Amino acid sequence: MATILDGKAHADRMLEGVRQGVEARRARGLRAPGLAVVLVGDDPASHVYVRNKSAACARVGITSIEHRLAADTPQTDLDALIDRLNADPDVDGILVQLPLPKGLDSKRALHRISPAKDVDGFHPMNQGLLLEGLPGLRPCTPTACMSLLAHHGVDLKGLRAVVLGRSEIVGKPMALMLLEQHATVTIAHSRTKDLPAVCREADLLVAAVGRPGMVEGSWIKPGAVVVDVGINRVEDPGLAARIFACEPKKLEIFQSKGAVLCGDVRFGEAMQVASAVTPVPGGVGPLTIAGLLANTLQAANG
Ligand code: GUN
Repeated sequence: MATILDGKAHADRMLEGVRQGVEARRARGLRAPGLAVVLVGDDPASHVYVRNKSAACARVGITSIEHRLAADTPQTDLDALIDRLNADPDVDGILVQLPLPKGLDSKRALHRISPAKDVDGFHPMNQGLLLEGLPGLRPCTPTACMSLLAHHGVDLKGLRAVVLGRSEIVGKPMALMLLEQHATVTIAHSRTKDLPAVCREADLLVAAVGRPGMVEGSWIKPGAVVVDVGINRVEDPGLAARIFACEPKKLEIFQSKGAVLCGDVRFGEAMQVASAVTPVPGGVGPLTIAGLLANTLQAANG
């Protein structure tokens, strides 16, 4: 049986570090770091994320300021708000919650945020610094995954790592961070030929594709470390029966609630093959917010 990599416990450790960092600033007579969160429209999942972010900020002493805009907000109004936040000396970090409603250009919004306040690490300046291996604000999810791996003593040097997914938010930056730690990295994706065979080569498999239960136990090399970044809601009974075949408890939740959260990896199958696996929920999810608050403290400290 594999070890479960407890993301919630590691997020708590990271948040405690941030709380101490905030306290150290205050002891030097500096104000609390300020995070501005911009939420446009009424995507229910985004509202949940934003609520969780505000609660985590309160826990570590970061001031969080929410800006809610209507779904039909013109791009020029969003531009103006970002400009105002860029110029506001009390705001250290700016996060524009994604996805933006149809009609708004998210790249234009993200490129407008000052790189010094870009706590998501999505600005091309920060992405370029990461590419060069220089310090900057780095995307929260891969940064926190690297911190989790380091905490559990996973030695990445020379390791064969496969990153499944090529998003700008997770896949690409994760691959760069693994490379920086001397892993041999393959980025695989939906068009990769013989994906199961490519995944089976991985000593470390990072799944970030957003496809529930896509990675089967037979795709995993015995003894591999598996990091599951996917958070998917499964509502289809046929799919649930397939992907939770070795997880009776999940199947029970599905049967009582009609839906259940699951990652990109079939957790029950992975547990029988891998040496360590992150669960969903309670794995990478809580780490993302911890990474965001660590970035906010870093932005405040300059
Ligand atoms: N929506 C889902 N995840 C994220 C994230 O990491 N950052 C932002 N800005 N929006 C998101």
